Amino acid sequence: MKSEPLVLGIETSCDETAVGIVRGRTLLANVIASSVEEHARFGGVVPEVASRAHLEAMQQIITQALQESKVHATDLDAIAVTAGPGLIGALLVGISAANAMALALDKPLYGVNHLSAHVAVDFLTHSEERSPSIALLVSGGHSSILKVDDVTGEISSLGKTIDDAAGEAFDKSAKLLGLGYPGGPAISRLAEFGDPNAYQLPRPMLHSKNLDFSFSGLKTAVLTLVKKHQTNLCEQDKADIARAFVDAIVEVLVAKCLAALKQTGMKRLVIAGGVGANAQLRASLNAAAAKKRFEVFYPELALCTDNGAMIAF
Ligand code: KG4
Ligand code: ZN
Repeated sequence: MKSEPLVLGIETSCDETAVGIVRGRTLLANVIASSVEEHARFGGVVPEVASRAHLEAMQQIITQALQESKVHATDLDAIAVTAGPGLIGALLVGISAANAMALALDKPLYGVNHLSAHVAVDFLTHSEERSPSIALLVSGGHSSILKVDDVTGEISSLGKTIDDAAGEAFDKSAKLLGLGYPGGPAISRLAEFGDPNAYQLPRPMLHSKNLDFSFSGLKTAVLTLVKKHQTNLCEQDKADIARAFVDAIVEVLVAKCLAALKQTGMKRLVIAGGVGANAQLRASLNAAAAKKRFEVFYPELALCTDNGAMIAF
């Protein structure tokens, strides 16, 4: 019997140079180099800097993934690479590397949709079937609600952000509060110390009757609060603003997930993308799942953010 396919996946859509190797549903290696520190002083990813960092890291990350998985390149059955969406210059570095490998090894090359990969990665760590399901994909570059009929095939979009992505809203609001980049984890930690009654921020598109999101207004609301305090913004004010921001964004994300489940009659929700690591979002979703009787699944934290294993899988 032929063993399950051995696939190497390359991901370079944003600031992570990542290579993963899987055999079927078994994860053999997941190596990631991030250029996040090089972007920190700009408060966001600089495409040109990301592309150059990919170019420098690519070969070493491939070698390391092969070593960790104890796989010889000639044993690979296929090469997979993120084809988009993403920063075009950054994508080109990964695609060129994948092309070269496929050509040199005479193996098939697969272009993979980054969003589908984020959703599919959940299936890497368990064997039971979780589709059909609704997937909430929230990261620095995208925010979507997807209908996943079959994770290896049909994935359709039910709603998406009309402006900033959820992670972008986290990052930009964190920057306004003087927190480092990426701001998601920092603003989330700070919010734990905030008073939930200190400020009330808008819940954009909460009652829009569709499954789209809008987060740029939320970021502007944070800016207005920060400006109001001018130079005397103390640590407690920052925590209170962080709390108001997190409460607002989480409420909208959860409400849209519930609406998508209701609209489709589905009972399973899969959370994907970097913002899926958010503790407040998880707590709120878990509470809703218990109350409304649906199941919610989170890929392992290390597989939530951009990685090569999700592309390979
Ligand atoms: O999926 P990902 O690694 O890359 C993209 O495809 O964008 O997501 C990165 C995003 C960043 O915006 C980061 O601030 C956010 O995910 N993020 C978080 C948390 N951890 C990462 N946002 C909120 N809370 C977190 N704990
Ligand atoms: Zn991503």
